[in-house]
Amino acid sequence: MVVCGGFAQAIGLVCATLVRSGRTRIAVEDPGHATIRAAVERSGMTTVPVPVDGDGLDVDTLARSASEAALLTPAHQFPTGVVLSPERRGALVDWARERDAFLIEDDYDAEFRYDRAPVGAIQGLAPDRVFYLGSASKTLAPTLRIGWIVPPREFTWPLVEEVLYTVFATPHLEQLAFADFIGRGELDRHLRRMRLVYRRRRDTLVRALERALPELEIGGIAAGLHVIASLPAGIDERRVLDAAFERRISVSGLGEHCAAARSHGALLIGYAATSEAGIRAGVRELASAFANA
Ligand SMILES: Cc1ncc(COP(=O)(O)O)c(C=O)c1O
Repeated sequence: MVVCGGFAQAIGLVCATLVRSGRTRIAVEDPGHATIRAAVERSGMTTVPVPVDGDGLDVDTLARSASEAALLTPAHQFPTGVVLSPERRGALVDWARERDAFLIEDDYDAEFRYDRAPVGAIQGLAPDRVFYLGSASKTLAPTLRIGWIVPPREFTWPLVEEVLYTVFATPHLEQLAFADFIGRGELDRHLRRMRLVYRRRRDTLVRALERALPELEIGGIAAGLHVIASLPAGIDERRVLDAAFERRISVSGLGEHCAAARSHGALLIGYAATSEAGIRAGVRELASAFANA
């Protein structure tokens, strides 16, 4: 396992290592995180957007794309909130083996699932084909800047070399503090506590949206730290975002994360850092922004 400065640094290191191995064409989820896609492109890779549906990444389209790697968020897809189905997991691993390709698994949001058991990582199915990437940003604090990579064995030393010649070393004090926190069982206690808090905040948000804005359609599973709410046809996402911003409501839109054009916009509403009362007040403001958009 290589410890580094969060997922953001991990993805740069993994892409640089893949490029050195001669692989430059990588499939990314569409929709998928816009900043992460840009980071992948800055590493010199060419991204190939592959659509996501209710079962996650469309593996048939991936197979036709001539990609040599694929980056995905299987536990809780960003931003749609769907989970990669067991059939697709198997198909992805078959694809990687047949094409001598590699998967980059962003195990994003895996710890926060509110109405179902956690799902296993794809890395467990094919450790020789998967770079597993994790981060303390969602579980504990994004400012910690701690992330980790479990690479396929053949990439361990190329990756260690990449660290040596770029970041040189990941700060140790934070790692020691984090290891102590885990060792004393504090991370487990924190996660158990926060699952209840986040679940209540999510329920509050969904109930408030259903009451105040019934025309929105909530998507994705009950997991993670944000809700995706689809806008009805004909409602302009940009106008809603601007009207919300004027009321000091910070929500983001699906549009910025899409490569292909979409008929419907959607709002991405984070709830982790807002109290239940704040969420209810925020939805009231959002409803009035909506009326004026
Ligand atoms: C899809 C996705 N993956 C991973 C991360 C974690 O990134 P980092 O560890 O660099 O904070 C984020 C954070 O926003 C994210 O949105």
